[in-house]
Parts: sequence; C-alpha cells; structure tokens
Amino acid sequence: MVPELAGRAHLQQIIPVTDAALKKAAITLQEIDAIAFTQSPGLIGALLVGASFAKSLSLALNKPLIAVHHMQAHVLANLIPAERPEFPFLCLTVSGGHTQIVKCNGPQQMEVIGETIDDAAGEAFDKTAKLLGLPYPGGPLIDRYAKEGNPQAFQFPEPQIPGLNFSFSGLKTAILYFLQNAGKSTVYKEIFTATEKEKKDFINHHLADICASVQHRIVSILLNKLKKAADQTGINQICIAGGVSANSGLRNAFTAMGIKNGWRTFIPPFEYCTDNAGMIAITAYYKYIAKDFADLDVVPSARSSWNIKN
Ligand SMILES: Nc1ncnc2c1ncn2[C@@H]1O[C@H](COP(=O)(O)OP(=O)(O)O)[C@@H](O)[C@H]1O
Ligand SMILES: [Mg+2]
Repeated sequence: MVPELAGRAHLQQIIPVTDAALKKAAITLQEIDAIAFTQSPGLIGALLVGASFAKSLSLALNKPLIAVHHMQAHVLANLIPAERPEFPFLCLTVSGGHTQIVKCNGPQQMEVIGETIDDAAGEAFDKTAKLLGLPYPGGPLIDRYAKEGNPQAFQFPEPQIPGLNFSFSGLKTAILYFLQNAGKSTVYKEIFTATEKEKKDFINHHLADICASVQHRIVSILLNKLKKAADQTGINQICIAGGVSANSGLRNAFTAMGIKNGWRTFIPPFEYCTDNAGMIAITAYYKYIAKDFADLDVVPSARSSWNIKN
C-alpha cells in the first residue's frame, strides 16, 4: 500500500461513495442525525480526507460530529446483529495492524488486556503469503488454499510469551527458514541447501499443506491466549473481530472452542469483519446516545493510544 496513493484515492472516491450509500439507503442528507468519521488509527492521508469531509458536512448540515476509534469500532461490529453479547464481554480483535484481547465493559469502556509485542496476526498471514509468492493481501488466499490442505502436515513453533500478549515474529522467521530449506527444517542454516528451483517446486507441490499448517498455528496462538483470558477474567461471552476474523479456520476453531468451554460466542457477519462503514456507524450510534460529540477542531491521528474515552 502506498500511503500517498491511498490518500488521493480517498479524495477521488469520497463523494461518489457517499452518494452511492445515500442512494442505497434511500435517504437524503437532511434525514441523517449525525456525521461520524474515523479519527484514528490509520493512514494519515486517508484519515485527513475523511475528517475534513465529515467536518464540512457537519458544518453545512448543522448536524453533530462524532469521532470514532477504528479499533473500538471493530469490537462493536459485534453489536450490529440482533443476537449480540451483553457487557462485559471479551473480544479478540485481529487485523492487519493489530492483535488485541479487549475487555469490553460498555460501548465506551474498553480495556486492552493483551496485545502483540511485534507483528499482528494479519501481518503473519500477509507476510507468509508474500514468501509463498501470493499477492497482497494474502490472508484470504491462505484461507482458500488451507481448505484443501492438512493442518498437521508441517509443525511450526508456538511462541512462549508470558501473560496475554502475543508474538508472531518468531513464526514468520520459522516459515522463512522452512521455505529456504525447502521444507526440511525451520532452523536457520540447518540444511540451507535448497536452490531457487527446489524452493519453488516445494511450494508448488505443498502449497495447500503449507497454508493449512501455518493457518493452524496462527489460529492456535490466538485461541490459546483467548482461552487464558477467559479463564483469568471469568467472562464467558466472547467475540472475535477485525479482518482476520473473516478467516474460516479461525471462525470454525473459535466456535468449537466455545462449545467445548461453555462460552457464548459471537462472530460479526462476514461483511462486518474486514474494514467497513457499518462498524463506524454502530459505534457512532452509541456515542450519539451518550451525546459524545466532537468539536470542529478535532484532528485525526495515525497512531493512537487506546484512549477510548475521547
Ligand atoms: N479470510 C482471511 N483469512 C486471514 N486473514 C484475512 C482474511 N481476510 C482478511 N484477512 C486479513 O485481514 C487484514 C485486514 O484487516 P482489516 O481490519 O480489514 O484492515 P486493517 O488492518 O487495515 O484495519 C489483512 O491482513 C488480511 O490479510
Ligand atoms: Mg481494520
């Protein structure tokens, strides 16, 4: 992704997308109660376009402005369907930039109780895909190939990180060496004799098994920590969210784990897992009820501390 191009694309698309959304919902701008936008975190160029557009609309229509936190919105995507969790619940939020276990006491009372100390789960998928020569974003492709493969075909290491935090960089390195060694070892230079052709042939012959095995390990890293969080907090209403929650291996294993442990489990409908406007709207709805409006001088930020009470 090229940040400047993403910002320019937002500028080109924001009016046509707004028009299309109004048309699809069959409403006019006047009928809208408030204007919400994503304040953080994200690519600053894209955030600036959205913030400027939302402020202009809010000013022109004389409607309240609502600033939404992207990660909070992923969690609250679980409140869109009619069957929804009650507070408090836990949410495993897994996306391209974040891996978090969030304790959610209310729409705006969230606490991160575990997170990645290096790569995000989505990055682990995307970087593996890159090593396999698959295009970005590779997560959905690994998911697709994994369905045809054996998850036990290859063993990748599970990191031993204390507490509820995650780490994916060791797994990424193990996969790199595994491919460099044409599947003979996950250890650096243990064999290291594979030629480019041997590597390519190995990947071509075992693509489904490699994808299934990597996905199996990513899912087990995520769910083992989630189980630990459920045990520690005693909370048994558990959700997943974020782009990686679209992964069918994670969805199936999470549901099975819920049945085994007596949890009530929630997974947002597929279209509310990867980035979407619906999750921004549901978060804005709760902020609207709480009259939590933003001033016109509010600024977007690329990074943000998890300051949910904004
Ligand atoms: N079916 C899937 N399996 C695994 N990963 C997926 C799947 N679908 C999407 N992803 C991953 O989700 C991430 C995107 O998450 P999303 O929340 O939409 O965006 P961002 O991280 O930019 O907020 C990417 O890393 C992508 O590979
Ligand atoms: Mg996201």
